[in-house]
Amino acid sequence: MAPSEIKDELSGIVPKKMTEQEILEVIEAFTKAAVRAKKASFDGVQIHCAHGFLLSNFISPYTNRRTDRWGGSVENRARIVTEIVQRIKEHYGADFPILVKLNATDGFQPGSQKADLGINISQVVKTTKLLEKAGVCSIEVSGGISEAGVVTLKTAINSPTKEAYFREYSREIKKAVSIPVMLVGGIRSLSVMEHLLEEESADLISMSRPFVCEPDLVLKLKYGDAKKAMCVSCNLCFDPEGIKCNYKFNQNQGN
Ligand SMILES: Cc1cc2nc3c(=O)[nH]c(=O)nc-3n(C[C@H](O)[C@H](O)[C@H](O)COP(=O)(O)O)c2cc1C
Ligand code: SF4
Repeated sequence: MAPSEIKDELSGIVPKKMTEQEILEVIEAFTKAAVRAKKASFDGVQIHCAHGFLLSNFISPYTNRRTDRWGGSVENRARIVTEIVQRIKEHYGADFPILVKLNATDGFQPGSQKADLGINISQVVKTTKLLEKAGVCSIEVSGGISEAGVVTLKTAINSPTKEAYFREYSREIKKAVSIPVMLVGGIRSLSVMEHLLEEESADLISMSRPFVCEPDLVLKLKYGDAKKAMCVSCNLCFDPEGIKCNYKFNQNQGN
């Protein structure tokens, strides 16, 4: 299911366009998931609106071509998310933090036809303002849908200039909202992390792959036992047998 019948060029699948009833059911399902999380003693929830999953497909005009109240304007495309936030707030008010992980770009080649059809930074900024107004307490800035290639998890992050590859987007978003902005994507060095905070590109640093090989990385950085993550961003941790650092494993085996 998707907002519109736009073929996914990677899989070749043409999704089924969701009916009004199905959209309302999805809103209900997300709300119930948040309620279960609260009951299970979680401190908050992050709603996934990135990486080409369903909610990000509503937000991007590339995948959302609807002309009803769930498509068209930025406000209509974000409506499914703002309704979910509103419904969760009806249950818990300000007592339960709701964060959003958001695509700031679909990741298509700039200037290409697909990029022109996709989301741009001014639409993203408008979306973040709507989310802030709805009561979201932090935005995590990411990007990329699978059809655009390896945009979300870039490989070979081997110099500080290649790190934090969504920083231009988070800087623009941070100028527009008052809530904390979190940045993810290829952040590896302490110096880059500090610089991102100093230049006001982000308020919070988010990492994923580095923790697969170094779960104690934050402590190492904090106590001066490391200046940067060991992770070489090879993506070998996408292992159907389970998430583990196959790069570290191969090194230990002498491969
Ligand atoms: C094995 C693996 C699984 C992931 N699963 C998710 C996921 O379920 N949801 C999500 O938002 N991002 C997921 N990601 C992407 C990360 O959250 C993050 O956005 C991305 O890896 C870029 O950050 P990094 O360079 O610090 O790894 C996953 C990444 C890896 C390596
Ligand atoms: S396999 Fe290891 S080194 Fe490669 S990206 Fe994953 S965590 Fe990083």
